[in-house]
Amino acid sequence: MADLRKEIEARRTFAIISHPDAGKTTITEKFLLYGGAIQEAGMVKGKKNSRHAVSDWMEIEKQRGISVTSSVLQFHYDGYCINILDTPGHQDFSEDTYRTLMAADSAVMVIDASKGVEAQTRKLFKVCVMRDIPIFTFINKMDRESRDPYELLEEIENELGIGAYAVNWPIGSGREFKGVYDRIDEEVIAFEGLDARHEVTATRMRFGDDALRAALSEIQYQTLSDDIELLAGAGDDFDLDAVRHGRLSPVFFGSALTNFGVEPFLKKFLTMTTSPLPRQSDIGLVDPFDAHFSAFVFKIQANMNKAHRDRIAFMRICSGKFERGRDVWHVQGGKKIQLAQPQQLMAQDRSIVDEAYAGDIIGVFDPGIFSIGDTVCSPERRCAYSGIPTFAPELFARVRQKDTLKRKQFVKGTTQIAQEGAIQIFQEPGTGMEEVIVGVVGVLQFEVLEYRLRNEYKVEIIREMLPYEHLRWIANPPESYDPKSLKLTSDTKIVQDFSGNLLLLFSSPWNISWALDHNDGLELREFSENTDH
Ligand code: G4P
Repeated sequence: MADLRKEIEARRTFAIISHPDAGKTTITEKFLLYGGAIQEAGMVKGKKNSRHAVSDWMEIEKQRGISVTSSVLQFHYDGYCINILDTPGHQDFSEDTYRTLMAADSAVMVIDASKGVEAQTRKLFKVCVMRDIPIFTFINKMDRESRDPYELLEEIENELGIGAYAVNWPIGSGREFKGVYDRIDEEVIAFEGLDARHEVTATRMRFGDDALRAALSEIQYQTLSDDIELLAGAGDDFDLDAVRHGRLSPVFFGSALTNFGVEPFLKKFLTMTTSPLPRQSDIGLVDPFDAHFSAFVFKIQANMNKAHRDRIAFMRICSGKFERGRDVWHVQGGKKIQLAQPQQLMAQDRSIVDEAYAGDIIGVFDPGIFSIGDTVCSPERRCAYSGIPTFAPELFARVRQKDTLKRKQFVKGTTQIAQEGAIQIFQEPGTGMEEVIVGVVGVLQFEVLEYRLRNEYKVEIIREMLPYEHLRWIANPPESYDPKSLKLTSDTKIVQDFSGNLLLLFSSPWNISWALDHNDGLELREFSENTDH
């Protein structure tokens, strides 16, 4: 038991989010270097042209330089066992980010200092705030000319709608970037050897030290002095409780490439975050230190390795300890199972795990039994975590295969990709499976669908965009509503999902109001807690 407590207390599980190119891969790589998980820089990400991160396993990611799927990295540092969940950097995959955040205890967002909160990432940040999880901000690329730090803080506050507290404050930027003032330890971390290709050495000095006066120009020294005073008098106080409830984001400045400020950030971050916290289930809060194992599925991915044509369900352990070979109870399947080939992943390197603890992420072989949101737990103490809500898609297309002889592959491909949660599929009542309506949050998801059907299932498709933008689930029980009797405008479409739920597709909010006004008692929901796709 003492071991269980010690192991779980050492766990820190967080997601890392950013706009593409803000420096997420570079910062992750530095973390791995400190933890000794990799030996040299450049192992995570190759050179520009052969650019691929260890975590980018899909061909399309390499081609476009974006991260489409999230992956998991585990390493040890300073007595902590750290699980990093990588997330797609593009807003079109914000639903995937949302699911990943369900498995994380906190999030680190990386922002480019010259750009601030970028349009594409806004949605991702909002998704973060929706979960109320602690958000830590790393303002990267301070070795380049940056925007005014006050302005950046204000922007974060405005965009996120939560407070921002600068834990450290930059002294200059670009060639003049001399270091940061740590407001909690009240010391300056100055660095020398500014060169984008080399790492820098850091020296700690108290404000007022002669050495600091010597290291800074007169103007820089004075500016720093004014900034310290100004910051002390304005803005939020540092309140760890507010941080832990997602109401205040601690902000750090640094440069991942030159390795400046990254390790101090990691150290502070680890002390400010918590080990796994209790989670709500149908039997009340489940304590992570409880001896009974429980976990939920937050991600399913097929064909990670083309040679194996496999499907892996990623689970976040919420309580107790996982032991290989032990029976577990699959709540949604209603039976005892063994988790086959449990593995931890370092991107494409997988290793079989014999045991894992609350806070850890494991991937298990999925023979097609799991859906996103499913719970597995110890048969002796059954509980179910609530499902992961499905976002209402905003773009719709009718999709069918070019070659009608490929029907089987088409059905398999679209169904599997939908089960992974990468797209949502619907059907017009009365039509067969040779044609589906695909709903997505972002247009890139259509491209991923097309690409994957071609490469993994050898199916070419025809995609016809539909003019709908809003989807609503009919909340009334099916027996109380005959879809044929619904009064709808001619540009509203009735579809059903694969659990048989009826939905309506609308081209404008006006049509939604029209439907509600003309159908007494009709109830519409914006999202479904149902995890079956
Ligand atoms: P991402 O995962 O968020 O997409 O970003 P990534 O780490 O791949 O970084 C994007 C680019 O920004 C890379 O340059 C990287 O070297 C650079 N970068 C990251 N952190 C810093 C920093 O602190 N300062 C500066 N100046 N640049 C930084 P690239 O030219 O696209 O790739 P490469 O040629 O460096 O491999």
